[in-house]
Amino acid sequence: MNEGAAEVLAPDGLPVAPELIAEAAALAEEEATRRHAELAAEIEAANRAYYEADVPILTDAEWDQRFRRLVALETAWPALITPDSPTQRVGTKLGDTFDEVRHRRPMLSLSNAFSDDELRAFDARVRRGLGLPAAPEAAPNLAYVAELKIDGLAISLRYERGRFVQGATRGDGTTGEDVTANLRTIRSVPAKLTEPASLDARGEVYMPKTEFARINAEREEKGLPLYANPRNSGAGSLRQKDAAVTAARQLATWSYQLLEDDADRPGAPRSQSQALARLEALGFTVNPNRESGLDIEGVIAFTESWRDKRHDLPYETDGVVVKVDAFDQQERLGIVSRAPRWAIAYKFPPEQVESVVEDIVPYVGRTGTLTPVAHLTPTKVAGSTIARATLHNLDEVRRKDIRIGDHVILQKAGDVIPEVVRPITEKRTGKEREWDMPAACPVCGQPVVRDEGAVRHYCANPACPARVGQEYGHFAGAMDIDGLGWAVLSQLLERGMVKRRGDFFRLSVEDLESLDRYARRSAENLHAAIQKARKRELARIIAALGIPQVGWTTAIELAYWLAAEVPAGEGWLARAATHLRTVAAETPERFQDLAGVGPTVSAALAAWFGPGGPGEGVLEDLAEAGVEAELPEPRAEASTGPLAGKTVVVTGTIEGFSREEAEAAVRAAGGKPGGSVSKKTDYVVAGPGAGSKLAKAEELGIEILDADGFRALLQGS
Ligand code: IVH
Repeated sequence: MNEGAAEVLAPDGLPVAPELIAEAAALAEEEATRRHAELAAEIEAANRAYYEADVPILTDAEWDQRFRRLVALETAWPALITPDSPTQRVGTKLGDTFDEVRHRRPMLSLSNAFSDDELRAFDARVRRGLGLPAAPEAAPNLAYVAELKIDGLAISLRYERGRFVQGATRGDGTTGEDVTANLRTIRSVPAKLTEPASLDARGEVYMPKTEFARINAEREEKGLPLYANPRNSGAGSLRQKDAAVTAARQLATWSYQLLEDDADRPGAPRSQSQALARLEALGFTVNPNRESGLDIEGVIAFTESWRDKRHDLPYETDGVVVKVDAFDQQERLGIVSRAPRWAIAYKFPPEQVESVVEDIVPYVGRTGTLTPVAHLTPTKVAGSTIARATLHNLDEVRRKDIRIGDHVILQKAGDVIPEVVRPITEKRTGKEREWDMPAACPVCGQPVVRDEGAVRHYCANPACPARVGQEYGHFAGAMDIDGLGWAVLSQLLERGMVKRRGDFFRLSVEDLESLDRYARRSAENLHAAIQKARKRELARIIAALGIPQVGWTTAIELAYWLAAEVPAGEGWLARAATHLRTVAAETPERFQDLAGVGPTVSAALAAWFGPGGPGEGVLEDLAEAGVEAELPEPRAEASTGPLAGKTVVVTGTIEGFSREEAEAAVRAAGGKPGGSVSKKTDYVVAGPGAGSKLAKAEELGIEILDADGFRALLQGS
């Protein structure tokens, strides 16, 4: 069975199509960056509309599709993974928002330098700006401070008369998020300064490498997507609504900027080096790996001295920040487009090393996708030892022409995800072997198939142990069963102790104690965790089923819908199961009543819940095993907009709208898109191709609109 999920998973646990990743990888970096920004902005806007205003502007399918494209871009271009990317928000509970904090002074960003020459060009600009002679002439009045660039999350800490009163993230530089409660749990954020000063201290929250490794190991156990690097992990930990979660993680800070309220008083720091010393004296943690009094050649020597040594530090640094030391010179140089002219961030180049592809092994994922993974001679790169790297799919293997036995260039671009860059063809001996997808699944032996025009190969056997194992791992993870990791799960499956999902809840302490390396104590703990998971929100139970095409958004919608359809009370889950089967078998189009569900997702739901489908008996089994669903509170109807309280059914082709767009428009106007026509329907929007729904509307005397009438209705006329 698989040890590591080779498939790329979006944070909702669903896989991202390898062809999307290949497509993203084929883009030019600029184009990838542009698309990333565009998608991220669109998703952010949709999230806000959905969770804050409860008016979806993207359908579930559209949201999912954009999200997967975003993950694909970030997989191909790890440098695009920033802490504020929507993909890194998994830790925050759905709908959580923090209060906004307006920064007293904007939090600036830095321009970058990638080479010694770019550092020298920075020095030349500084000299010109200050009216100093050009290099190589000496400029005795100009000195730089070099600091390590901490790869964390920028924060601003507000102190009033020596007391910590508010802490915020950088946000867009002008407005950040209020994370005071979370910052208070961090030991290196002093609650009280050594003197009653009023000031803003800025710096970086970071997660030490060891803590990052611990959290990712825990996430892997739970089947959750891994954090790409300590920065994202740190950001995810800080942006938790529940400060207890932040407290449970070992975060730390380095402070590097001091903005005192009375910066003009006699004796106040007049330079960055003095400010750093004062920060330290006030009780902040200031990174000791810094140097002042440098000219640009001294700065270059400083970067050189940390190039390799940085990997031995207990935290991540991705470069060196160079600052003009004297504040009066900083002021004269000023700021251009949000970046100071007096500072620059030198970025270390991604470390590339040589390794050998010892084998290429196909891994089977939850949906059956076979992903080729390179098994490498263990090689140290950017501070960790790499023995595996995903090659994504067969087309990628061919495009890069990577063969078994090849010497290859390996790099860790996004710090964590290792990448095989290219083969070193000069080193070929002729003994290298081209790799091919196996014809049979390496786990169950059933045929491997590739759909017409698709990139992925997959094992089509739904009973394949690799697929089942990952499906059940997804179930345990989504149901939030603490401690039910791969080590336990694989034994439970192999020994036949879990044959259906409900079997998890039928395990006794004695059953668990019989597992390898399971003492009474740990068996009791796991048993208790399983009992705790008996009662879960309905949406969570649905999401845990791993229905294809059904992510969290659809699961939430389905939960609302089911709760409204099936009367609460004794034996609810079993009754809901019967209802789902009946709808799936008899009126599957009703699934399109769910917000954002179109024909594709509706068909997936019907296929899964319907007679003979993979979901047949699953909910009944869970109910029988004592699982109970917490039902969502009915949603308040939208009370504003031209269609407030109205149900609108769209049928046929509506000029200018896709089905999803038409439904989104109805919702945006405060109405409810309906799937089937009944007496409760207020309007039917019909276009070419409309059939039985139109006939039904005519029969019931419901108002029928064409595309123009629909537009007028949306505008409230
Ligand atoms: S100074 C105007 N110093 O890097 C000065 N920034 O790429 C602004 N960073 O937004 C920042 N270590 O989050 C400074 N020693 C350091 C830093 C540092 C990390 C971050 C900071 C900034 C980003 C710019």
